[in-house]
Amino acid sequence: MKKILITGSLGQLGYELTKTANENLELLCLDKHNLDISNRKEVFEILKTFKPDWVINCAAYTAVDKAETDVKVAKMVNEKGPKYFAEACSSLNIKLIHISTDYVYHAGLNSPIVETDKTNPSNIYGKTKLAGDKWVLKLLPQSGYIIRTSWVYSAHGHNFVKTMLKYGAEKPEMKIVFDQIGSPTYAKDLADAIWLIVENKIEIQSGIYHFSNEGVCSWFDFAKKIFQLQGFDTKVYPIRSIEYPTPASRPSYSLLDKSKLKNALGIKIRHWEEALGECLKEINTG
Ligand SMILES: NC(=O)c1ccc[n+]([C@@H]2O[C@H](COP(=O)([O-])OP(=O)(O)OC[C@H]3O[C@@H](n4cnc5c(N)ncnc54)[C@H](OP(=O)(O)O)[C@@H]3O)[C@@H](O)[C@H]2O)c1
Repeated sequence: MKKILITGSLGQLGYELTKTANENLELLCLDKHNLDISNRKEVFEILKTFKPDWVINCAAYTAVDKAETDVKVAKMVNEKGPKYFAEACSSLNIKLIHISTDYVYHAGLNSPIVETDKTNPSNIYGKTKLAGDKWVLKLLPQSGYIIRTSWVYSAHGHNFVKTMLKYGAEKPEMKIVFDQIGSPTYAKDLADAIWLIVENKIEIQSGIYHFSNEGVCSWFDFAKKIFQLQGFDTKVYPIRSIEYPTPASRPSYSLLDKSKLKNALGIKIRHWEEALGECLKEINTG
């Protein structure tokens, strides 16, 4: 029986992985209270004791705006955490899947981003995540897998979809930015892809991969679709990012090209609108 350690198990992705795992896997699902990934000793101890075949590191400091002023903690979690896992996995011969972000790429890119594109993050969150990725690539050249994803949401946790459902039910109109383009990721769909890698039905090479749902939209389009599917008549007005300033700057274009992972696993990824519909159903049925 394969043994899998999932970190950040109360976060969006960690929760989906925990929920969707096959029964033939022995899981150890740990949240911040059971395992602080920025504590090197704790990381080594848990890996030595549990001896997993795979670690799936979903734990991260994901408060993008807060990270601008909470640099030290963001760095500890997003850089040191994966570094400690990579060190421990390297010495104990364990495979690591580490989740990363579109925000590591250059803010000026304007065509679907491939894994070999230059990185040049514009905010602290992106910088600390990139530093973590580099440790994984350096220390686990044969057994480290980095999956960069974007705009993650699920029925569980805090995300754009849940925020829109809350405000859409209260407000007759909203202004949403239309000059940031990307593709949402339903955490459940990403979890399914991760399980394909772990279950090893198809062996893929170590390195960087991208995952999001198919299609492209702006936050404005995303909000409109959420309201339409939910039956809200909230009016949505497009605004530029400059009219909605945030502490962390965000790339205007962050559409990920998923060809590498799709080809490696032989999978098709569904369109974001279809995935959103399923997530809303899950939220509405409790
Ligand atoms: N959410 C997105 O839109 C998005 C986009 C691109 C990439 N990603 C990446 O995808 C991965 C999963 O994201 P997600 O959306 O599932 O994030 P999430 O819901 O914020 O989950 C992350 C989890 O990590 C926990 N955590 C924070 N510090 C920790 C520590 N020191 N030790 C152990 N756990 C700690 C968090 O706990 P607390 O909440 O209690 O702090 C939270 O439960 C992350 O690597 C993230 O960087 C996310």
